[in-house]
Amino acid sequence: MRSRAIPTQLRVEAPAKVNLHLAVVARRADGFHELETVMSTVNLFDTLDLGKRDDGRIEFFWQSGLARTGIRLLDPALMPTDDRNLVVRAALLLKNYAKSSEGASIVLTKRIPTEAGLGGGSTDAAATLWGLNRLWNLNLQTADLVELAAQLGSDVPFFAMRTGLALCHGRGERIQTLSSGDAPAIVMAKPASGLSTAAVFRACHPGVGGMLSERDLSGLREGRWSALARSLRNDLQRPAAELNRDVTRLQRDFDRFGLPFHAMSGSGSTWFGLCDTLCQARRCAGVLRARGWPWVFAGNCRAVA
Ligand code: C5P
Repeated sequence: MRSRAIPTQLRVEAPAKVNLHLAVVARRADGFHELETVMSTVNLFDTLDLGKRDDGRIEFFWQSGLARTGIRLLDPALMPTDDRNLVVRAALLLKNYAKSSEGASIVLTKRIPTEAGLGGGSTDAAATLWGLNRLWNLNLQTADLVELAAQLGSDVPFFAMRTGLALCHGRGERIQTLSSGDAPAIVMAKPASGLSTAAVFRACHPGVGGMLSERDLSGLREGRWSALARSLRNDLQRPAAELNRDVTRLQRDFDRFGLPFHAMSGSGSTWFGLCDTLCQARRCAGVLRARGWPWVFAGNCRAVA
């Protein structure tokens, strides 16, 4: 008989995401928007260190993992340590759902900037569900975790699926994994100022433009980025640029690189470009740093921790 050791401590890496496509289809009666979006994980990670507690309590701290932390890149006001934080809410939700008496100490090391459109809070919440399911030996299936994830936020189910590339509908919570070939290199940059997701959605005008075709979806699976550039779009780009002038300045800087595809991620304010090689991504990153952008990253798409 094989016995599987149950850990008393666990480290979980939580990847960031970019939206390769984000069409806002309609405004819904519940205040959310119906979306058609394609998300890919990126090899930029927050880290969660989980430890068991005997007293049943959930204890949570976070620390910065960014070398040059500008206050606007990791805004403490957006990261409370009580049950307003998605990490604490995820832990309590799981504990209640599983009727568990277990507790946990959670230390989060943040590298994904806040208000960036990179899913930082959502990926931390999904990693908490996934990690505590193991630490507490609950044996919940991915489908159960994805259902709990949908109660925490629109992007959380994508991360709970632990897939690299997916087409998502509904609020973002209905997920179809897209198997894919090589992961492209990526360069990302973010201005000092962020953007509130709710504010950007409020300023957008849904229902303009077409949906992705079957041909586009095969293009996505095969990574034909130059051909896809005409079909992929982000409907939140325009309202984001109206709310934050840096977004347009960043777009102009990316325009100069002649990349196969570049766009804003989610509700911004991060702009990203897909590159042919990691070398090219690093070269672009150097130029963006020299232009004075406070946060720049070069890496690869489709990291699943
Ligand atoms: O679901 P999440 O908490 O990440 O969403 C943050 C805000 O973004 C929501 O309160 C809503 O205003 C907006 N939103 C939306 N439609 C979506 C996702 C988010 O209007 N599909």
